[in-house]
Amino acid sequence: MTPMSPQQKALFLAKKQGNFEIRSRSIPSPGTGQLLVKVQSTALNPVDYKIKETGMFVTHYPAILGSDIAGIVEEVGEGVENFRRGDNVLAHGTFTNDLAAFQQYTLTVASFTAKIPSNLSFDSAATVPLGFDTALTGMYGKHNGAGITPPWEEGGSHDNTPDKPIVIIGGSSSVGSYAIQLACLSGFYPVIATASAYNERLVRNYGATHFFDRHLSGSQLKEAISRVTDRPIGVVYDAISLPETQPIGWGLLANNGILVLTLSPSVKEDEGKGRKVISTSGSPHMPQNKELGRNAWAMVEEWLSEGDIQPNKYENLSDGLEGIIDGLVRMKNGEVSGTKLVAHPQETR
Ligand SMILES: NC(=O)c1ccc[n+]([C@@H]2O[C@H](COP(=O)([O-])OP(=O)(O)OC[C@H]3O[C@@H](n4cnc5c(N)ncnc54)[C@H](OP(=O)(O)O)[C@@H]3O)[C@@H](O)[C@H]2O)c1
Repeated sequence: MTPMSPQQKALFLAKKQGNFEIRSRSIPSPGTGQLLVKVQSTALNPVDYKIKETGMFVTHYPAILGSDIAGIVEEVGEGVENFRRGDNVLAHGTFTNDLAAFQQYTLTVASFTAKIPSNLSFDSAATVPLGFDTALTGMYGKHNGAGITPPWEEGGSHDNTPDKPIVIIGGSSSVGSYAIQLACLSGFYPVIATASAYNERLVRNYGATHFFDRHLSGSQLKEAISRVTDRPIGVVYDAISLPETQPIGWGLLANNGILVLTLSPSVKEDEGKGRKVISTSGSPHMPQNKELGRNAWAMVEEWLSEGDIQPNKYENLSDGLEGIIDGLVRMKNGEVSGTKLVAHPQETR
């Protein structure tokens, strides 16, 4: 008789638009370029409830979701040189069952994995991957971003000058918070962000130099920004990208400017003024994002350790993987503001 392979618990979405349930499954073995990670903390993202609601992105069921991984390396696959068993790491997962976050052990791709510096907890580290990568791709992606030169390339990092304004709509969201921080690393100034008034301090702590209430109308915001800078607004990163926020960003853009979105566009590119709109996609696992992802993930440990990138504020969920189910409902209901929800898969009963 063959011995049963080691088992773990995972949160499965049983079928398309079905229910979540905890089940056992085998612990996978790392292939070339991969790591096996014991997941200590995983953060929730809007895409996780959207997949449950709409069936988007995932084609195989039962499916394990979750993108944000922080944990301990258990096993190192062939060809991986920069990680050892016992390292504390964060990683960007994907919606393939062996590589997804909502389970006790997952595989990670070493080039989208970084060591957690000693100043950070697993919980903090888990708030980084998807939000950070989406901000990153939207800013620096050549195919699905604004194509700004990234800070690690020559000419990509400048001292702040009053020449390069950027506006980030939704600065208290996870994506918005990382867009603010990357804008600072890239030398934009002023870095203008919107959110609800009670999140002003949070958004300024991420590096926004100017803050406006997100409830201002498009014309009120434009007027307020004109008092901050008379330079043309070349980039607006709309981290929220709802039909009500997109026209606000679009209306702020100068001729030839670019509006970066995290969802599908509802504004239409116009003739003559050269304004562009682009929908980004934050997964480094996508072929068009791989090179950018590899280069950025090589910087993640240093940026976190130096404080150039600060993780998000978080709230812990109880009940291990089971706690994710209610957490996703709270996110869907818009009850989570300026905070990541973080679960502990090892506490699953
Ligand atoms: N394309 C991709 O690959 C990709 C990747 C990641 C995320 N996304 C999408 O990007 C969006 C943001 O994701 P996230 O993880 O950053 O979300 P999140 O952190 O869960 O966003 C929560 C924040 O949204 C803000 N918000 C809600 N409605 C708003 C509005 N009308 N105007 C301005 N801010 C508003 C709230 O700000 P206040 O509380 O301050 O009002 C809240 O702090 C989601 O739709 C997500 O699905 C796409």
